Amino acid sequence: MATQTRPAFAPEHVPPELIWDHSLSEFNSELDDPFMAASRLLDGPPLIYARDGAQGRPGWVIARHALLKEAFIDWEHFSSEGGMDLTQMLGVDWNLNPVNIDPPMHTIYRKVLTPFFTPKAVGHMEEGVRETCDELISKFEEKGGCDFVKDFAIPFPSMIFLRLMGMPEDMLNQFFEWEQKLLRGTSIEERVQTGRDILDYLIFHLEQQKQKPATPLMENILNARIADGRPLTDGEILGMFYTFYVGGLDTVYATISWSMRHIATHPEYQQFLRDNPDKMDKAVMEMLRMFSVVSSQRRVTKDFVWHGVQMKENDLVIMPIFIACRDPEAYPKPNEMDLNRSEQPLAFASGPHLCLGMHLARREIKIAIQTFLEKFDNIHIPEGAHYEYHAGPTFNVDSLPIAWTKKG
Ligand code: HEM
Repeated sequence: MATQTRPAFAPEHVPPELIWDHSLSEFNSELDDPFMAASRLLDGPPLIYARDGAQGRPGWVIARHALLKEAFIDWEHFSSEGGMDLTQMLGVDWNLNPVNIDPPMHTIYRKVLTPFFTPKAVGHMEEGVRETCDELISKFEEKGGCDFVKDFAIPFPSMIFLRLMGMPEDMLNQFFEWEQKLLRGTSIEERVQTGRDILDYLIFHLEQQKQKPATPLMENILNARIADGRPLTDGEILGMFYTFYVGGLDTVYATISWSMRHIATHPEYQQFLRDNPDKMDKAVMEMLRMFSVVSSQRRVTKDFVWHGVQMKENDLVIMPIFIACRDPEAYPKPNEMDLNRSEQPLAFASGPHLCLGMHLARREIKIAIQTFLEKFDNIHIPEGAHYEYHAGPTFNVDSLPIAWTKKG
């Protein structure tokens, strides 16, 4: 781990033995399984300083479950504000809302949104989620196979997002294209342009909602009065719209895809789930742990010593949840699917920014997996076919060919 001469990316306060002259995304892509690749960092120090922790930027990487959980809660030392690059890239003066805003303002914004994401509220969405799932599957169910990612995992949460936002469903293909370019655009210019195209559409949508809100969520946001009795500004609302876009699509599609890959390559587990539908909720939580796809970021707010390591104001901190979720100190035999675990997965973070959409996400994943298992037998990856993935800030599957036998 130690390097002889201090590389330029490592500031003076970083001890030499914690300097890690690597890129996290390349390191995570070294094996056929990025979760196993990333979990190799659990063998080293709990905190390392990486040359490239996120999108080319150097920073601290937290490589233990206990520390990560602590950092998520400690917003006074680890701020969600000012360290992220999306709004800088868009050239706007507002933040992603509420995800990149610290308490106390965070609490005020979150109160506006919470009623729409409680288990009860999500229960009301269930029928729509099922309809969306069935509608998508009906397009390929007679074919005996599909590319699970392209044909199902990407459009599924996108359609739910469009319905939640009151956007027309014929925007689906456009959103799909934007998502591909924003996440995997070949140049930074292409990504920036795509980010702005999305923003232009969100601005257009906001203007329409001001005339006539299309859903209860939109109505609540437009009519909200926050602490000082004023309505939300356009920037505060656009920050919310953008957060739903970046937070609720990629994460769901990635988790469903990794889960389906596991199911398609583990026939006994697949059959177990068919035979034990009452275990589905537990299975979803365990898949969320095994295939935790997110890496968050924070900015250090002031100089302080954390677990024996000097942190300086404005240091970037990378929080790869996929490493924490494979930590044997938190989850014994972390690479095994164990439906009897009691420790909750950290997949949705913890502390003030605990994922607002977690009940919806769990419902979406459950319905998707359950429907495939009910409709199809012997789900597998056809011989000679391969899956593809990328390991950026989110671990994501790019392509997953599957085939099945249709139930009689
Ligand atoms: C498997 C799916 C999902 C995963 C793994 C996930 C994960 C996360 C994580 C780790 C955070 C905390 C980020 C941070 O503190 O830096 C977060 C926040 C958030 N998520 Fe999710 N998410 C998922 C699905 C969704 C969905 C479906 C929605 C809504 C439609 C959503 C909306 C949000 C929002 C609004 C926040 C910000 C909460 C706050 O700042 O108070 N997420 N999510």
